[in-house]
Amino acid sequence: MQRLRIAAAFGGLVLLACAALGQHAVAQPPVHGASETVPRQQPAQQPPTEPQSARPSASPIYGVTIPPGYRKWQLIAPAEEAAPLDELRVVLGNPEAVEAIERSAKRFPDGAVLVKLAYKRKPSPDFEPATIPGQPTTVQVMVKDSRRYASTGGWGFGRFVGGVAVDAAQHQTCFACHAARVKDRDYVFTRFAP
Ligand code: HEC
Repeated sequence: MQRLRIAAAFGGLVLLACAALGQHAVAQPPVHGASETVPRQQPAQQPPTEPQSARPSASPIYGVTIPPGYRKWQLIAPAEEAAPLDELRVVLGNPEAVEAIERSAKRFPDGAVLVKLAYKRKPSPDFEPATIPGQPTTVQVMVKDSRRYASTGGWGFGRFVGGVAVDAAQHQTCFACHAARVKDRDYVFTRFAP
């Protein structure tokens, strides 16, 4: 009971924080002034952006881009976020990331990439009790490069709305939350769904 209450309180906190940030992310226009003032890192070291994105975009601070071909990566787990965000999420990993999770590695190898896709929910038009992904909200990316991102646990972060990276202020929050909660799992929340 006690544990349940603690778990519930903890979950509530995380969700609240996420919701606040998520709201912010959704409320932001795709192109934000702040991102223009932040010097972008050389995209040359990064793989090209997903062709679907008409405006290739690298995240401020980290220079992370949406990895090509990620929609074909393996599913690690779905997740959902309570109101007010009311989102469905899926986390996918590239082969390096999946392999590390499979063998419960203490650390992810350089080259591991995780992508989280978030959607609004909507009722299925075909079957009322079912909920399906509605409008996409954010795509979030974590890229492991222990040298380049040494000061943030070896991870570079990117949050994209409509394929365009959000502002630097939002990117300043990523590592802090991941570090506060799951430092002992190399800053990664998601584990394989059973
Ligand atoms: C307030 C806490 C919080 C903040 C801030 C946050 N995240 Fe997360 N992140 C989570 C949680 C919790 C998950 C687990 C999946 C879920 O519940 O949606 C997660 C999962 C992820 C994942 C999938 C890998 C994993 O760790 O499970 C990526 C990628 C990710 N976040 C990127 C980002 C980026 C990029 C930012 C900053 C723009 C960010 N996160 C900011 C809490 C946070």
